[in-house]
Amino acid sequence: MSAPFADPDAVRRRFDEADYLTGEGLATAVYLALVLGLPLLLEGEPGVGKTSAAKALAQTTGSPLVRLQCYEGLTVGEALYEWNYQRQLLAIRLAEARGDRLADADLFTEEFLQERAILRCVRHRGPTPPVLLIDEIDRADDEFEALLFEFLGEGSVTVPELGTFTAERPPIVVLTSNRSRDLHDALRRRCLYHWIEFPAPARAAEIVRRRVPGARAGLITAATDFVDAARRLDLDKAPGLAETINWVAALSALGAGELVRDDVVRTLGALAKTPDDRELLVSALDADGRLVVGP
Ligand SMILES: Nc1ncnc2c1ncn2[C@@H]1O[C@H](COP(=O)(O)OP(=O)(O)OP(=O)(O)O)[C@@H](O)[C@H]1O
Ligand SMILES: [Mg+2]
Repeated sequence: MSAPFADPDAVRRRFDEADYLTGEGLATAVYLALVLGLPLLLEGEPGVGKTSAAKALAQTTGSPLVRLQCYEGLTVGEALYEWNYQRQLLAIRLAEARGDRLADADLFTEEFLQERAILRCVRHRGPTPPVLLIDEIDRADDEFEALLFEFLGEGSVTVPELGTFTAERPPIVVLTSNRSRDLHDALRRRCLYHWIEFPAPARAAEIVRRRVPGARAGLITAATDFVDAARRLDLDKAPGLAETINWVAALSALGAGELVRDDVVRTLGALAKTPDDRELLVSALDADGRLVVGP
């Protein structure tokens, strides 16, 4: 595959066309990850655009997106490959009915191998390699990370009974983490790293404008300034872009053309996700519906 982007600015422009707005930092990280063939580890607070960055990358490179959502207890069988025990059992029964006995070598073959996301990406054939999104790696147990080292370092997966599979065209790998726990140094070392910052209000406003096209410009600016101030309060769950987008969509759905106190209060459920956060926000509201926050 020829390089999909000429330079970091081409990444920024193409992501913009896909309605993902980004600055030089992430655009450069994406560009370098592709050029160097390294997995890209994206960290950042919730709702800051980690998952959608991987989606934008798949969209702009014309690659299929393969998503592996991580969770506690995720195993090899769900992420790499699994043996189809039922079919193996059936094969054993059929052989027995014929008076045969199957050896291990007959049972651990391609025929009984079920590929999961990672092995599927390694064995992918097609004009462009897939984008593999290993989402929220911090949710998986830390032993699971160790299972990824071979794949992340060498782009290969070893199935002990069959041998090592190496990608013809290595997949483009994006890992995301919310930092709910620290990741192995060995995992970090194998990746290029980028911390996604919450965007400044002007970019946040442009993102919201793309996502909620019906909303009034004044409402969007007031709302993104409000969220910027809210993020400086000591909230349990600082609102991310997802919340900001939902909030503006909610205000817009109620017919709000600008930000007034009553509308703010009745739509706070889109921004404040705990009773304490709601209370804190309401107590910091002035009569005009603006937040009074210290520097
Ligand atoms: N830079 C951006 N340009 C356009 N839209 C964005 C951008 N960043 C985030 N969004 C939008 O904000 C919302 C949240 O983004 P996303 O789900 O990617 O965040 P996340 O970091 O993966 O969050 P979480 O940690 O909760 O999984 C999505 O609707 C996404 O489309
Ligand atoms: Mg996400």
